[in-house]
Amino acid sequence: MKPYEKLLSENKAWAAERIAHDPEFFSRLANVQSPEYLWIGCSDSRVPPDQITGTNPGEIFIHRNIANMVVHTDLNMLSVLQYAVEVLKVKHVIVCGHYGCGGVKAAMTHQSFGIINKWLRNIKDVYRFHQEEVNSLKSEEDRLNKLIELNVKEQVMNLAKTSIIQKAWKESHIPHLHGWVYGLDDGVIKPIFEMTANTPIDPIYQFDNL
Ligand code: CO
Repeated sequence: MKPYEKLLSENKAWAAERIAHDPEFFSRLANVQSPEYLWIGCSDSRVPPDQITGTNPGEIFIHRNIANMVVHTDLNMLSVLQYAVEVLKVKHVIVCGHYGCGGVKAAMTHQSFGIINKWLRNIKDVYRFHQEEVNSLKSEEDRLNKLIELNVKEQVMNLAKTSIIQKAWKESHIPHLHGWVYGLDDGVIKPIFEMTANTPIDPIYQFDNL
């Protein structure tokens, strides 16, 4: 068996096991999804959202990219956000970063990585806003992890700047926004920032005509 074929045979075993435990499992999920959560996480293979949160298929709507960014020109992220908020009506949006994130680490260097530079630029901007706080820390690891936390906070605030979130807050007082950071070394998620619905934002980003 070729290595990738293992994925297919594991899948067959998984599907059979699910059916054995709960014969209605797939027929129930096939028609409808009503997740309460949208997860915006890093693409890193060591941070699988449903495994680390003990959630099942149907429970979390997921978007992942390098370093869990909320970039206001990213059509992919915006489409996921709009669908999750306006159609699925999720109650919570979680931005989850992770300590030791390679994307954030790369953004702190002076190395060129080709096309990915354009993505990392967004993280360099976060670094520039918080340079003093980050640079006050002695070890490289502490500086990296501080920027990882600040980046998560910044991305949560970026969500609140979108018309999608502002409109939902005005109309239905959801979703609440959460910033979390996952520890690769202990498997524990640390909540670091929260914006409950209708939290005031910097006025310049506020739309009055939604
Ligand atoms: Co990462």
